[in-house]
Amino acid sequence: MRQASDYTEPALKTIFAEDFKIGAAVNPMTIQSQEHLLAYHFNSITAENEMKFESLHPLEDIYNFKLADQLVAFARKHHMAMRGHTLVWHNQTTDWLFEDKKGGCVSKETLLARLKSHIQTVVGRYKEDIYAWDVVNEVIADEGEELLRQSKWLDIVGPEFIGKAFEFAHEADPKALLFYNDYNESNPLKRDKIYKMVKSLLEQGVPIHGVGLQAHWNLYDPDLDEIRAAIEKYASLGLQLQLTELDVSMFRFDDKRMDLKVAPAELLELQAERYEAMFALLKEYRDVISSVTFWGAADDYTWLDGFPVRGRKNWPFLFDERHNPKPAYHQLLNAVTKS
Ligand code: GLA
Repeated sequence: MRQASDYTEPALKTIFAEDFKIGAAVNPMTIQSQEHLLAYHFNSITAENEMKFESLHPLEDIYNFKLADQLVAFARKHHMAMRGHTLVWHNQTTDWLFEDKKGGCVSKETLLARLKSHIQTVVGRYKEDIYAWDVVNEVIADEGEELLRQSKWLDIVGPEFIGKAFEFAHEADPKALLFYNDYNESNPLKRDKIYKMVKSLLEQGVPIHGVGLQAHWNLYDPDLDEIRAAIEKYASLGLQLQLTELDVSMFRFDDKRMDLKVAPAELLELQAERYEAMFALLKEYRDVISSVTFWGAADDYTWLDGFPVRGRKNWPFLFDERHNPKPAYHQLLNAVTKS
């Protein structure tokens, strides 16, 4: 693995210093195994799992801040910004939240009171350290006519749980930038639904400041024109945008191939072209994009290892398994320094 003194290439955070923050998702393991890489190239972090509801608040009377605090301390140590992820989601949320003592459904009032208390505690605790929160994650339905996905939040509270979460977060930290965050954000059908939902929040006076484009992309999808159209559409709401979970998988989503044990040169080449084109586009929109966070930092650790195809390795980042710059890094650097 590279040592701190091995890092001599231009840092990503410097290359894009005039454009946007460069972030990485981290966890208690990677802040150790990737510390030099993170400290050298990145100026923002997000907790991969440690600030999700089930991690922070496993039982009604029990908060567990230990791991989240370690990540916050890492951000402080390296003078990095930190994004909070995430307050309201249908996944990785413990059942107790939605249940009464007998295991039945809680009332709307109880659920909102619990949400408010959770948000006050969590957002309040990290006020000095977290400048932006993904307040609501993934509430839009991927397919069909329905605007909102089925969830316990929707069943118990109705659509207003979304606006309420933003209000509670704003009360807990009036300075924090509050985001709606989702995936498949560049798909035209889903994009238009996200736009419609966020627009209606704005019309209701809900304190929302940005749209998070998760950007779990691959070598082929989404098309650059679709990404551009999505950026334009969200930006037309007058909000700031952040890419919150960027990775570029080597495989189309429905590609089940299992034969690759190392990343082939021709795919690394395609990935380099893809990253170059993506960042050229992102730079065009630097006035509205304030941060670009990768969902990891280097190919030794990615949630895409084993997802959606179990046992399959993936290589989605700009740095390889030993933290060396990949062709995508070099091509990106060339393109940016020429422009
Ligand atoms: C979603 C969530 C993230 C993460 C990824 C998969 O995008 O927002 O927190 O769980 O799925 O790792």
